[in-house]
Amino acid sequence: MSLWHAQSWREKTALQQPTYPDQNKLEAIEAKLSNLPPLVIANEIEQLRNRFADVAQGNGFLLQGGDCAESFAGCRAGQIESTFKVLLQMAVVLTHAASKPVVKVGRIAGQYAKPRSSDIETQNGIALPSYRGDIINSFEFTEQARTPDPERMLEAYYLATSTLNFVRAQASHGGADLSQVSSWNLDFVANSSLGEQYDHIANKVQDTLSFMHACGVDLKQSSLSSAELYTSHEALLLNYESALAFDYRDQHYAGSGHMLWIGDRTRQPDGAHVEFLRGVRNPIGVKVGPTTKIDDLLQLCELLNPNNEPGRLNLIARMGNQKIGEFLPPLVHAISREGQNVLWSSDPMHGNTLKSDSGYKTRRFNDILGELNQFFDIHKSEGTVAGGVHFEMTGQNVTECTGGAVQITDQDLADRYHTQCDPRLNADQVLEMAFLIADSL
Ligand code: TRP
Ligand code: MN
Repeated sequence: MSLWHAQSWREKTALQQPTYPDQNKLEAIEAKLSNLPPLVIANEIEQLRNRFADVAQGNGFLLQGGDCAESFAGCRAGQIESTFKVLLQMAVVLTHAASKPVVKVGRIAGQYAKPRSSDIETQNGIALPSYRGDIINSFEFTEQARTPDPERMLEAYYLATSTLNFVRAQASHGGADLSQVSSWNLDFVANSSLGEQYDHIANKVQDTLSFMHACGVDLKQSSLSSAELYTSHEALLLNYESALAFDYRDQHYAGSGHMLWIGDRTRQPDGAHVEFLRGVRNPIGVKVGPTTKIDDLLQLCELLNPNNEPGRLNLIARMGNQKIGEFLPPLVHAISREGQNVLWSSDPMHGNTLKSDSGYKTRRFNDILGELNQFFDIHKSEGTVAGGVHFEMTGQNVTECTGGAVQITDQDLADRYHTQCDPRLNADQVLEMAFLIADSL
């Protein structure tokens, strides 16, 4: 295999990339980005690898979640904080149920680029470049807005930095302190049945903490007062990713986030995305869909994890409620037969997208839950570890997915449908999901 370097992906076919009209400007921005500090450092990335290795062996659980697409306008304290709180609530529910550490990974601080089925979108006879995420162009349907602008990569970098700064401070300085566990219910959740269910667990946690405190444990100085939170996004825009790559102690790392994943549309073994990711030490997620062939998956494992190191690879099954029963077992079987060390997790969102009668792109709560339950059952019968879940979710009170205890109907979708891309579970729905899967852990 040819030598890897941060730009070696340019010799391969890179799908899903924008066409920038001004090459000079692009190069100037890439140069500027590559001089800026990375958002994450090597020690954290290595630590996440260790956490993933533990999870893959059954000694932990991976909770990954956040927006389908982060928007620049969504970089606001309130929005970030509410998603962060819901993630913590889910982590409490899952940690409590599993009695295992929950590794918390946000789809956050970099989830700005989206793959599209077509390069061009036509509206009323006018054809313009498709919207590819805020890091590339703007959603508005005008020629200026849709023209890819490399300057947006810089803006994405600064907004990711700002987001990360905010969540890191929250996570380490009180915002994730378990003695505050009862305060994480968001207003609208507190008034629902989920809020009550959560209070029940929160009270148990509080009792335990009071007991420990009475026994002389210094809670403020313990691991109970802060949380580890990691970032992740789809490594789609290779100009951005490669500009932020860095070396440390003779190893290469992607500097844009702790964990990066390869999407269903860009995982060609001979493609540019695999080429870039094979050379960096970050934990790598690979989306695995109903069309993934056993041989291709094994080849990807070989390319991305040639030394079969635990903690490197996270295979994220995104099959769909109707398909997982047929397509996942042979893949899980092949991976364990070959002795590949991987962490299996479930993305129950992307295989369950449909168009509602009211015209909205949506997902049904019960389809999502159905896929999750099958994911756990399949691993149980294969004797493998169901290591984690991956949700598109938000702390906002949106109406984008139907169903759940809050009973969002087709007609409700129009009320608060805010997503820039795929429909997300709202705080109530995703917290309910955490309760419903807790028993399977
Ligand atoms: N530090 C531990 C962890 O991150 C315990 C913890 C602190 C925690 N705050 C938390 C767990 C919030 C879940 C949610 O797991
Ligand atoms: Mn999505």
